[in-house]
Amino acid sequence: MTALRGRSALVTGGNSGIGRATAIALADLGAHVVISGRDEARGNQVVRDIRAGGGRADFVAVDLRDEASARELAARTRELVGDVDILVNNAGIYPFGPTDQTSDQTFDAVFTLNVKVPYFLVAELAPEMAKRGHGAIINVSTMVAEFGLAGMGLYGASKAALVLLTKSWAAEYGPHGVRVNAVSPGPTRTEGTAGMGADLDQLAASIPAGRPGSAEEIAEAITFLATDRSSFVHGAILPVDGGRVAV
Ligand SMILES: NC(=O)c1ccc[n+]([C@@H]2O[C@H](COP(=O)([O-])OP(=O)(O)OC[C@H]3O[C@@H](n4cnc5c(N)ncnc54)[C@H](OP(=O)(O)O)[C@@H]3O)[C@@H](O)[C@H]2O)c1
Repeated sequence: MTALRGRSALVTGGNSGIGRATAIALADLGAHVVISGRDEARGNQVVRDIRAGGGRADFVAVDLRDEASARELAARTRELVGDVDILVNNAGIYPFGPTDQTSDQTFDAVFTLNVKVPYFLVAELAPEMAKRGHGAIINVSTMVAEFGLAGMGLYGASKAALVLLTKSWAAEYGPHGVRVNAVSPGPTRTEGTAGMGADLDQLAASIPAGRPGSAEEIAEAITFLATDRSSFVHGAILPVDGGRVAV
């Protein structure tokens, strides 16, 4: 498949879960994909897997903890692929717990990785896309940005901020050919949720699909928003949650 031949993509958190499935899917369509994460072994393994399948990929090891690290990632991506056509803001953390047991440090870590880092990656890369007249940015939100669940308020609030930013960036960059959208996954089996065990099934039991999703099912939606097949889709928040927010 060649829908993305000649295009380049940056997928944050591409060494695990939804990010890895997305990186593989974009590379399968011909994109040169840069993935980021802190764990080099997992990053290099994804690169090897993509290259073994005939795709193009590179890994950038970076701890995304502030504006500077986000801008550094953008710069290192440019060094590897030149112009960046697709940005997938996927890296995220989701510590759950009671509000009165959440530390100042956890609060800042969640908002830094889930909001500040996407913000400055967009600040760094979207203007260049706009200058070239095309680009696609996909933010990975969550169904719990849409409704309240005990213990998920901090995480949901950070992703609700990302949802609003998605719409604001669609207004800001859309007129210059840059489409900005989000996917909003439901419970999904990844390394990140592995520790939830049966809790993930329980969370999924009441949704129309009746089961958790796979990383590949979320990646499918992200890929749609990254390609020209979604050329008239701007500022959308696409639920990929087995129907949870619909019922
Ligand atoms: N799984 C779900 O049920 C679900 C549902 C809704 C939304 N989501 C969202 O989907 C996205 C991916 O989730 P996932 O379940 O695939 O997660 P995951 O398997 O836990 O992967 C998280 C990724 O983020 C990277 N990351 C974490 N902290 C980082 C840091 N400080 N600097 C750089 N990279 C960092 C990790 O790489 P390193 O560990 O190597 O740093 C890893 O690649 C997240 O935004 C999450 O909120 C997930």
